[in-house]
Amino acid sequence: MNFETILIDKNEGIATITINRPQKLNALNKTTIFELHTALKSLESDASIQVMIIIGSGEKAFVAGADISEFANFSTSEGKDLARKGQEMLFNFIENLKKPVIAAINGFALGGGLELAMSCHFRIASDNAKMGLPEVSLGVIPGYGGTQRLPQLVGKGKAMELIMTAGMISANEAKDVGLVNHVTTQEELMGFTKKIAEKIMRNSPVAIAEAIKAINANFDTAKNGFEVEIEAFGNCFGTPDFIEGTTAFLEKRKPNFPGF
Ligand code: COA
Repeated sequence: MNFETILIDKNEGIATITINRPQKLNALNKTTIFELHTALKSLESDASIQVMIIIGSGEKAFVAGADISEFANFSTSEGKDLARKGQEMLFNFIENLKKPVIAAINGFALGGGLELAMSCHFRIASDNAKMGLPEVSLGVIPGYGGTQRLPQLVGKGKAMELIMTAGMISANEAKDVGLVNHVTTQEELMGFTKKIAEKIMRNSPVAIAEAIKAINANFDTAKNGFEVEIEAFGNCFGTPDFIEGTTAFLEKRKPNFPGF
């Protein structure tokens, strides 16, 4: 796969996707959104990959937002279209991928950048990172799921304050409110994130996919999460992963999950 705005590295089950527009602080333009979608779709069906990590290139930014130059002259209908297509193609798409996606936030994660990180299954930040949804300072609101996912992660009051003030919070403040799970130094960010990915890779990929589906159902008002959990739990029975997991336990050895 040859991309213009992202880089892909595959190593021992982990795919690292680097958003590579450092001169624009990795701002998400149309091409980047399309390329991220294409890469993630292909990695989801790549049997050699179990976990994906998204990071920004350079030392300054994860992603400094949607590319403002692309939508500055948009009309109402073009604005709606931008948000709808972006949500479908990338943000909802990532949230519902069956393989774990971790955001390694290595600098500014603003606007669409924070929305991208919030679409990932969880987030780890370096201590120089700054996060916020500054859209109202531009006369617009978050359109890539930010008004929905930020309150899910930090609660309604904190989300209201962050969005209304268009302010930025530090990595440690983000950890205090549950927006990121861990904070490391910038040098340690990738190593630490890969260690967590390795822990995930010891477990059943098939069960993890069912867990992602069930957890996401909790935030989907059209679904009964408990019913989704019952279905997903049942789906695990009889799978080669379940047979291997239970057999390995009874034989007192480590499982070797066949996965998908
Ligand atoms: N869209 C398009 N270009 C962006 C961008 C964005 N969201 N964020 C940064 N850039 C570009 C800048 O225009 C600049 O390009 P130039 O060198 O061609 O002029 C380059 O990236 C570097 O950014 P700069 O503003 O010079 O860096 P800084 O260190 O002074 O400030 C930020 C860093 C993140 C505070 C500042 O870039 C910023 O506020 N960006 C926009 C954040 C935002 O509102 N995001 C939400 C968008 S919906």
